[in-house]
Amino acid sequence: MTEEDIHGKIAEIREKSLKEGLPVMRTETSEILGRIIKEKQPEEVLEIGTCIGVSGITVLAAGGKKLTTVEIDGERAEKARKNFNECGFGNRVKIIEGDCREVLRYLEGNEYGAIILDGPKSDLAYQYEASMGMLKKGGIIFIDDINYHGMIKAEGAPHKQRTIIKAMRLFLERLKTDERVEVKIYETEDGIAVAEKIK
Ligand SMILES: C[S@@+](CC[C@H](N)C(=O)[O-])C[C@H]1O[C@@H](n2cnc3c(N)ncnc32)[C@H](O)[C@@H]1O
Repeated sequence: MTEEDIHGKIAEIREKSLKEGLPVMRTETSEILGRIIKEKQPEEVLEIGTCIGVSGITVLAAGGKKLTTVEIDGERAEKARKNFNECGFGNRVKIIEGDCREVLRYLEGNEYGAIILDGPKSDLAYQYEASMGMLKKGGIIFIDDINYHGMIKAEGAPHKQRTIIKAMRLFLERLKTDERVEVKIYETEDGIAVAEKIK
């Protein structure tokens, strides 16, 4: 497939996912991710939250060599597998079906040049620390949806979401003062944080 064909395929998957109500990475956010991957050319990329493969295909099309991606939902993982194969990326992807909390422990000891946190937001602090332990110096952690549907900055969050919002706010405050990384915040779409490991 040419790069143009792959972009067409991503657009097709995105359209389908919207109809099915699946939460895939938004267009401009994917473009930013693609630009970063193009610049960094990481050998190994880890992603938490595969869904049906939009961000994963973006990473591989932009020059990420190998992708390990974790998804808890078996049906989504199966659709992602099909989409990766249709783009000709099947042999560069390992999809791990399972809960990232357990999978991150199992992956300990591996090394990645880029890590994408696009799964559950309830324990971002844990995912971030586990990722930092596996991230190469100069590598990046890309965290999507840091504004959590706009609720991080809004007042009066719905009762059900308060715990997660409080935890995310605390996590973001700590991230910005973490001396191991240089952090760039993008206010694009639902917000992105990119942390580059400097020590
Ligand atoms: C925002 S979507 C990911 C979008 C995907 N990166 C893309 O661009 O197409 C979040 C995904 O995380 C998955 N997820 C939620 N909790 C999880 C967990 N504990 N472990 C692994 N995946 C999880 C959801 O099933 C969902 O597919």
